[in-house]
Amino acid sequence: MCGIVGYAGNRDVVSVILKGLTNLEYRGYDSAGMALRDGDDIKVYKTLGKLINLKNELESRKSELIQPTCGIGHIRWATHGSPSIVNAHPHSCTCGKLVVVHNGIIENYKELREELTVKGCVFKSQTDTEVIAHLVADEYSKVKDLEKAVRNSVSKLQGAYAVCVMHKNVPDLIIGARKHAPMLVGIGDGENFIASDTPAIIEYTKKTIYLDDNEIAIVTKDSVKITDADGNEVVKKVEVLPWEPIALSKLGYKHFMLKEIHEQPDVIRNVLNGKLYDIDAPIVLNEVKLDKDTIKNLKKIEIIACGTSLHVGMAAKYIIENFTGISVEVEASSEYIYRKTTTDASTLVIGVSQSGETADTITAIKQAKEKNAHILIVTNRPDSNMARLADSLIPVNAGIEVSVAATKSYIAQMISFYLLAIHIAEVKGTLDDVYLKNLKHEIIQLPTKVEEILSNTTTIQECAKKFSSFKNFIYIARGVNLATAYEGALKLKEISYINATGYAAGELKHGPIAMLDETMPVLSILMPGGITYEKILSNSEEAKARNAKLIALTSSKDTNIDALFDVVLRVPQVSEILSPVITCVPCQLLAYYIAEFLGKDVDQPRNLAKSVTVE
Ligand code: M6R
Repeated sequence: MCGIVGYAGNRDVVSVILKGLTNLEYRGYDSAGMALRDGDDIKVYKTLGKLINLKNELESRKSELIQPTCGIGHIRWATHGSPSIVNAHPHSCTCGKLVVVHNGIIENYKELREELTVKGCVFKSQTDTEVIAHLVADEYSKVKDLEKAVRNSVSKLQGAYAVCVMHKNVPDLIIGARKHAPMLVGIGDGENFIASDTPAIIEYTKKTIYLDDNEIAIVTKDSVKITDADGNEVVKKVEVLPWEPIALSKLGYKHFMLKEIHEQPDVIRNVLNGKLYDIDAPIVLNEVKLDKDTIKNLKKIEIIACGTSLHVGMAAKYIIENFTGISVEVEASSEYIYRKTTTDASTLVIGVSQSGETADTITAIKQAKEKNAHILIVTNRPDSNMARLADSLIPVNAGIEVSVAATKSYIAQMISFYLLAIHIAEVKGTLDDVYLKNLKHEIIQLPTKVEEILSNTTTIQECAKKFSSFKNFIYIARGVNLATAYEGALKLKEISYINATGYAAGELKHGPIAMLDETMPVLSILMPGGITYEKILSNSEEAKARNAKLIALTSSKDTNIDALFDVVLRVPQVSEILSPVITCVPCQLLAYYIAEFLGKDVDQPRNLAKSVTVE
């Protein structure tokens, strides 16, 4: 969603902020802006659409600038007020001396706006953010101290915020504050940064301080001071970022999504590294802080997540129940938070999130925490807000994922769940030794099998071409691959804007079959060796009888099925329970090639954001 970059230092301020915003643009946005301290003045630039427009605007007005010494930049994903230049950040107070950029939502903005209007503030935008500019300016006029003014003002805000403020009368100072929205300070040599996420600063420094809720950062090029809500200075740990700037390069691939799909074999190896290395040794999962007795007595697991991470949870239900016999409930975070749940202190609650910043999941996890459940977080961002809520934390180590459409984080989360399920099974003794060894052996082979798929994508590309003109799709599967059907359909929707729905194959005849004709292709995921292969084959026959075009995604070597299906996407053979790791890859590639063929903005699909930090 929105992104913030602040910089104070001797480099070219415009370039640093633009670069930082570029590294955040994968999060999704609709407008951009920058405020620059230039001599005695603060100059504001805003444009609609992509960052290139802001870059061009700054270039065309270059002669206005003498030598900016610090600045704040923002990319906006509209929540209050449509995407427009007037609603783009930075926002200014009535006299224009104070500027602010903001991520999050101010829930009491209407009341504040009324109060400030009565005081004579003139509002220009429809945003909730603008109240912050007027509020801080109003406080500053009273206390004449920007740090105090920010502190007093944010105490009046309800909701979520990460804000950066500059004032014309206070040269070369940027103040940042946060609550329920991420913000960090990057420490450089004779330069410092403020940002909403690490990719914004990684090209310049790896030294980072993560702000906690209610903390305020007072930043100049030579100093960083962090205070709490009462103004007391806080000594914070300086952390070193694990990422390399190279992670933000496409490395010759046309899109980040394609690069990230191709990284998956190594991602799986990374997840397995140190945890599953020998089929005779138990899984090493020291991240799980539950003692053996607690694991043995576990009666219920709840998995809470959104979107693609929710689909991982759906597959995980099959995997955990199959390996351990423990009952697993899976729920969308947005549903969990608005009902009376049965979560209690004996429940293991697992939050799954690529970004670790998804607002609904964070709220759900907080609610579960209040009920004293043990919280396990599975995330690609161990530095995230969600990770900080964890009693146990499994970082999935997929590396930074730039494409909005999640791919490698999905596979990494999935593998983490296999390890978790086996770990629990080993503690409980629910799996037979021979089965366990074969299972581990097969898991170790998974990267090679994914490589096999990635080494020849011709059939998938041809299939994409053949089906790219269809407006609707149905994906069907059963059992553990039902999650793949949901995820495959979501991938297609997200990046190609083609309407696609995943169904349990057995449900087809209970309604969706009414939609079937030659305009509605059906992609069947049918992996032999399990108990549902023949059933899905029959469901596919039923679809064929209604003239639907059929695609099979299967490891079956049976050439008879080639007559039933219009296209057969063959994948390597693997046990059904492990097959979601294999079947998800052609689904990702099919969606990718269809979107690419249709000329869509694959990495930054319209209306979507990488981290959904608002409810
Ligand atoms: O960061 P999270 O995994 O918590 O995000 C949840 C969803 O917003 C996310 O998976 C979304 O569905 C992606 N666009 C999937 O490609």
